Amino acid sequence: MICIKKVNKYYGKTKVLKGVDMEIRDGEIFGIIGHSGAGKSTLLRCINGLEDYKEGSILVNNKEIRTLNEKQLREMRKELGMIFQHFSLLERKTVFENIALPLECFKYSKEDINKRVLELLDLVGIKDKKDIKPRNLSGGQKQRVAIARALALNPKVLLCDEATSALDPNTTKSILALLKDINKKLGITIVMVTHQMEVIKQICTKVAIMEGGEVLEIGETEEIFLHNTKALRKLIGEDNIVLPQGTNIKILFPKGTSNESLITKMARDLDIDFSIVFGKLEKFRDDILGSLIINVSNKSGESVKRYLDNKGIIWEEIVND
Ligand SMILES: Nc1ncnc2c1ncn2[C@@H]1O[C@H](COP(=O)(O)OP(=O)(O)OP(=O)(O)O)[C@@H](O)[C@H]1O
Ligand SMILES: [Mg+2]
Repeated sequence: MICIKKVNKYYGKTKVLKGVDMEIRDGEIFGIIGHSGAGKSTLLRCINGLEDYKEGSILVNNKEIRTLNEKQLREMRKELGMIFQHFSLLERKTVFENIALPLECFKYSKEDINKRVLELLDLVGIKDKKDIKPRNLSGGQKQRVAIARALALNPKVLLCDEATSALDPNTTKSILALLKDINKKLGITIVMVTHQMEVIKQICTKVAIMEGGEVLEIGETEEIFLHNTKALRKLIGEDNIVLPQGTNIKILFPKGTSNESLITKMARDLDIDFSIVFGKLEKFRDDILGSLIINVSNKSGESVKRYLDNKGIIWEEIVND
């Protein structure tokens, strides 16, 4: 468990983290999204002790990162694997040697290293690349080596800083599938720092939206996307599309619901007309979620709301920002 409370961080006089609160539970795939300069990498580096923070608290497995000495920090980092956008592999070493590095650092025996590296190569699906140098690998394969190296010491948490930002869409998908698989198989908590919405939609169970050093919103990914919250709209620069007259009602179709005929049935039951303003279906992890905005006259608005309530349908009225 990573518990972040009221963290402030300054570079000189500039405040780059402003009262950051966040709780990342064991086993979660937690996304942190925001534009460039939002403070995402800084926050990640505070979590693993690469950066200091002056105010607030960051507890990783109940240990306050700021108070650890060098030796304790070294031990703590065993539990926190990290991967980056540009892989950070050593070009002079082979794939095997790159993955073996952390194990050598902690003085594992040759036999143990051999066994562990082979296991890891298998896990990330690049067994055949064992003796190759990084320059002869594709971006996706390089990231697989980096993931294997980050997992070498059996960390409890994997911190990913823009891990897929340098990859093409298909390779991104395959790396995300690998991370999801690792989360499921090994129960490792994954923190994904990204500016790619697709990353959040494909694998994150929870998401924090950051801007200018602040957390604008935290919640279940599905909830935030389904409700198309203000913070999310701000992030993607999209306004709610609504008609200026009448009542605009957004009807949500969470996973497992099939309400295709709801709207037409409601129109018949209530004997009203409506227009469809906006509708979309989106894929999240393994589910499809949908939402539909309809516009009815102000006179019919109240009866529509009552009707939806009686049917247990989730809705919200959309008003212009
Ligand atoms: N070592 C540093 N010294 C001074 N300022 C820094 C330093 N590192 C980062 N900053 C500043 O802190 C702010 C947050 O930077 P950070 O790298 O955490 O953002 P980010 O959200 O990771 O952005 P990106 O998406 O571009 O990676 C920025 O304004 C940046 O200029
Ligand atoms: Mg960054």
